[in-house]
Parts: sequence; structure tokens; C-alpha cells
Amino acid sequence: MAQFETVEVTTDLLICGGGMAACGAAVEAAYWAKKNGLKVTLVDKAAMDRSGAVAMGLSAINQYVGLKDGDNTVKDYVDYVRNDLMGVTREDLVASIARHVDGTVHLFEKWGLPIWKDENGAYVHEGRWQLMINGESYKIIVAEAAKNALGMDNIYERVFITHPLMDGDRVAGAVGFSVRENKFYVFKAKAVLTAMGGAVHVFKPRSVGEGLGRSWYPPFNSGASTYFTLQAGAEMTCQEVRFIPVRFKDAYGPVGAWFLLFKSRATNALGEAYMQTRRDELEKWVPYGKVKPVPANLRNWLMMLDVMEGKGPIYMRTEEAIENLSKEVPDEKARKKKLKELESEAWEDFLDMTISQAILWAGSNIAPEEKPSEIAACEPYFIGSHSGASGAWVSGPEDLAPPEYFWGYENMTTCKGLFAAGDASGASSHKFSSGSHAEGRIAAKAAIRFCVENADQPNVDNANVEELRNKILKPIELFEQHKAGSSDPDINPNYIKPKMFMFRLQKIMDEYAGGVSVNFTTSKPQLEKGLELLNFLREDSENLAAEDLHELMRCWENVHRMWQAEAHIRTIMFREETRWPGYYYRADYPEMKEDWEVFANCKYDPNSGQWEMIKREIKHIM
Ligand code: FAD
Ligand code: ADX
Repeated sequence: MAQFETVEVTTDLLICGGGMAACGAAVEAAYWAKKNGLKVTLVDKAAMDRSGAVAMGLSAINQYVGLKDGDNTVKDYVDYVRNDLMGVTREDLVASIARHVDGTVHLFEKWGLPIWKDENGAYVHEGRWQLMINGESYKIIVAEAAKNALGMDNIYERVFITHPLMDGDRVAGAVGFSVRENKFYVFKAKAVLTAMGGAVHVFKPRSVGEGLGRSWYPPFNSGASTYFTLQAGAEMTCQEVRFIPVRFKDAYGPVGAWFLLFKSRATNALGEAYMQTRRDELEKWVPYGKVKPVPANLRNWLMMLDVMEGKGPIYMRTEEAIENLSKEVPDEKARKKKLKELESEAWEDFLDMTISQAILWAGSNIAPEEKPSEIAACEPYFIGSHSGASGAWVSGPEDLAPPEYFWGYENMTTCKGLFAAGDASGASSHKFSSGSHAEGRIAAKAAIRFCVENADQPNVDNANVEELRNKILKPIELFEQHKAGSSDPDINPNYIKPKMFMFRLQKIMDEYAGGVSVNFTTSKPQLEKGLELLNFLREDSENLAAEDLHELMRCWENVHRMWQAEAHIRTIMFREETRWPGYYYRADYPEMKEDWEVFANCKYDPNSGQWEMIKREIKHIM
């Protein structure tokens, strides 16, 4: 087997991930670490300039509260999030982010992010909470600030984190490997912040053939945060609350600007607007069916009902929206100018963040001012920072959290010294790019305080490190050992390649856990069967094989996904009701139940291998 060098790094705070939350954490941690003479180290599996969900850029900042201008209050935001998530939210966490997020947005602007302004110099809003930006370089700008704060000597790019290191019940660091060089990394730390995003490709995607891998959520995030926190024995929350966005079909272009800025309607093939024609259905989901805006999952649900009745395709009526907006301009010449402006804004919305949608428009002769475009529900994703809620169960801030939600350090998980932010922390939805950055800052400040107050370096057991090294590098060894056993390296009786493994996982999740092909519907017997098949898959994960470092990364990405899948199945099964019908539908419990207005949490014990399911009360602070 190829030789692997072991590289050891000792630090105070270790930040795992290099996305929005991690970049926020880097900036804040660097400030407090300097004051306390501490070291901060950041590890990203990719290059920070273009890593994570913001890689391609974004077209809007989706969380801006506007507190200084008196536009909204923190309570307004908490109400909005609670309603959108059908009552299941940690108000203390949402409030904590909402009160800090504007400051983060102002930093982005100071660092050079162009935010649209009107003729009076005020921010241009997409909707009540969203600001329009020229965001193609968003991630580069945010990463630059993080790099300047930490210094490149403290940043490890292209290093894939696989497992936590533990000292009893306290986290002691993390291990991983370089995806470019034969190096195994051991990071020893007093505190660890996990910010490795959410997960995609746990479910079978709609895309096939050349398009395989195309999805809304970025393919780079594959469940590392969930795996890491579960393996540290930390409690997780909302693992059932997947997110299914509605997007322009096949290239996954965003819809927010169309619905909010361009005030577009979506209609079925008969020209009926499901948000109107299906309004009565909302009565079934009260009180949340009656709130404004209608919760994201219920908007999905009304659309899905049309699709199930064969009334598709569903169209975004871009041509109608553009005409309506240009009609507002009375003068003919000005109207033509306005039309041109709207057309270019329509294209820019995609070119900022989903370039492939612009290419698909061009390739299918779509001029948005002439012709509507198809929209559809995507496959399910795990993204705690958007309109889903999955992530770690973390402590709230001392001044806002009820005693049940506070254990000493803001954003610390139930594992001592392990913090989480962004997609990695749960029940604090609608934080998006800006709120994730703000939450990263909140978590990092608390983590540095943890390092100061717990100044001893935890013990790392060398035998355990050696065991992990062997386990992590095993797929390379297995391939070397058996590669001559078949003429096609992808098919061999002694091992399974990560791509085949992923297909198996996706098929199980799609068919049994409510994916696209079963209209997002599942039931207890289906979930039990899925779990049984997942157990076989887990056995086979011992025989994953990798031809090179890239495939070694693919092996571990898929192990991480498999654990995300299990946490999801177990939690959907635990919650005996349907609460988010447009995300998943329990055919055996088709209604929402009052006594299930609780958090459904889960925990894995790495020592006994047992899962525990826990109900936690929702405490209102506002
Ligand atoms: P990310 O920013 O995704 O960062 C995750 C990081 O973890 C990456 O650096 C990744 O490389 C790293 N990582 C993953 N696995 C490992 C591993 N094993 N080891 C080491 N590192 C690892 N928000 C808005 O405000 N406005 C928008 O217009 C908007 N549009 C969006 C469009 C899309 C398509 C998506 C997916 C999201 C959008 N969002 C938008 C939401 C926003 O992008 C997320 O809320 C935000 O990026 C979450 O931050 P994060 O740090 O948790 O994850
Ligand atoms: S993005 O992440 O790709 O930018 P999207 O385009 O769906 O997401 O939405 C951007 C913002 O608009 C989010 O805050 C989302 O909740 C909100 N949004 C999208 N569609 C609607 C709608 N029909 N009604 C209310 N809010 C919406």
C-alpha cells in the first residue's frame, strides 16, 4: 500500500469547514484568540474561495432584519420562522441570530460585496427579509476576510475531516486526510466547531446520465457535520425536517426573486394558480395553514396536489410577471427601457448563482418575457440553515434561552467542547448565508471562552488514532489487494466502489423513505424495510474500496451520507404524524397532531451502538 505520512497539528480551537459559518467563526475567533493568546486552525475539504453552498455565488442575502431602520423587530423574525416551520423552532437561537445578523451584512458590504441600492441609497429588498446583491464573488469576498484574520499558516485546504477525536465525553480534536497528497491528519484541539454544511445525494436525484450529480444543494456537502456530531455522542434535532425546494426544473434555478421581486404566479398546465384554487386545503393545517406567508412546505404541498392529479407541468409565469411590471410604466419609451431592465435582471438572477439554468434557458430557446418556464419540487436535502431544520441540538444564549436550552456556552452541542453552526446546528432555520455567518461568529466567541475556561489540552489516545488511521485508509488497501481479481475495476466480488454504494443508498432512501419516485410518501412498514436494507449497506461499508485519494474521499462522503440517512429514517418513524406535508407525507399518520408539536431528537451512543429517540418540549420565549 502507498505510504501515508501522519501530520499532527495541535491547536486551541479547530474549525471544521470553510463555508459561511466557518468564515464567520474564523473572523470572530481570530479577534478573541488574539486577546487571549490562543491558536485557531481551520480545515476545509476544498479551497475556501469557492467552497460550500455559496461556491457559485448567490443572488440575494436572504436574512436581513433591518433593526436600525426600525423595519422589523427580532420578534417579527422569530414569528416568521416559527410559522414557516409549522411551530417547530428554537426561538432563543433564531432570536440570537436575528439580533446580530445585520452587523454581519454590514461587514460584507465593508469587505466589498455589492448590495443593490435604490435612488435614495437604501438597500433594494427582494422581499421583506431579503436584499438583492451582485453576488457572483460573494464567497471569495467572505473567504478573504477569514483568511486575513487567521493567516494561511493556520488554514488547511483540501483536507477531508472524517471523525472526531474524543477524551471521554469531551471532544479532543479531529482526524482526516488530504485529498491531494498521501497525508493523514491528526488535529488536537481544546474545542472544535463543526461547520461542514448539510447533505445532498442521500436521496436519489432527479438528474440522470450526463446530468447526474446536478442538484440544488451543492454536491460538496455530504453529511460530514451530522456524522461528526453523532460519533461524538451529541444529541441531534429535527433530523426528519428535510428541505424540498421548488426550483426551475432540471437546472435548479432559484425562484425567490420571481415570486418576491417580480411578483410572479405559478400555474398548472390548465392555467390555474394552485395557491388560489387549493386554498381550502390550507384549513387542514391550521394554525400554520393560515399564516402569511404560507409556509414553504405547504406551498409545495398545494403544487404537489396538482401534480398528483395529473395537472402538470407546473409553470412559473415569467412572461406574465414581466408584462405586469412593465405595464406599470405609462410612457412607451420608458416602458421599453423597463422591459430591457427586467429581462437583464431575470438572466442575472441565474448568472449570479445558478449559471446552468441560464445555459438551459439558452439551450431550450426560452426568453422569459415570451414563454413560461417549468418548475418542480427537487429531491430532499438536509440544510438546517434554509427552510429545513436538521442539525445538532445546541445551547442557546444565557440571556434568551430557558434553563432547559442552556448549558454554559452558546452553540455548544451536548458534547463538551463541540460547537456547531450553520447547516450543522438544528432548529434555527432561515439563517441562510448571512445568518450562518453571524451564527459562526456567535459560536466561535463562545468556543474561545470555552478554551480559556477549560485550558487543559484533552488527552488523545494514540492507539485510538492508529485504529482510526487504519480504518480511514482501509479502502485504498482493499483496492490494492483485490484489484487483479476482476477485469473491470468497478465490479469485484471483494469490494464495493463508492459510486455503486451511493446508488444503493439513494435507491433505499428514494423508495422507502419518501423520495421523488414515491411522491415523498412513506409509512412505518416502508421505513422499517428501509432500515433493514440500510443495515446491510452498513455491513458492506466495511468493504468500500478506493482507487485513489479522490475515491477515498468519495468512500467517506458516502459513509457520512449513510449515517445522515439512518438518523432521518429513525426520526421520521418516531414522529407519528404528518407536519410538513410538502416535505414528506406519512401515509399511516396523514394528519398533524397537537401532541406532536415538540422537537424529535435523537442520539447515537458510539460505545454501545444504540440509538435513543427523545421528545423535547418547545419553549416559547416570545
Ligand atoms: P456551507 O457554506 O455550504 O459550507 C460548508 C463547508 O464545509 C464548505 O467549506 C465545505 O467545503 C466544508 N466541508 C464539507 N464537508 C467537509 C469535510 N468532510 N471536511 C472538511 N470540510 C468539509 N442564502 C442566501 O442568503 N441567499 C441566497 O440567495 C441563497 N441561495 C442559495 C442557493 C443554493 C443553491 C443553496 C444550496 C443555498 C443558498 N443559500 C442562500 C443558503 C446558504 O448558502 C447557506 O445557508 C450557507 O451557505 C450555510 O453555511 P454553512 O457554513 O453551514 O455551509
Ligand atoms: S435561494 O436559497 O435559492 O435563494 P429561494 O429562491 O427559494 O432560495 O428563496 C429566497 C428567499 O425567498 C427565501 O427567504 C425564501 O424563503 C423566500 N421565498 C421564496 N419563495 C417564496 C414565496 N412564494 N413566498 C414567500 N417567500 C418566498
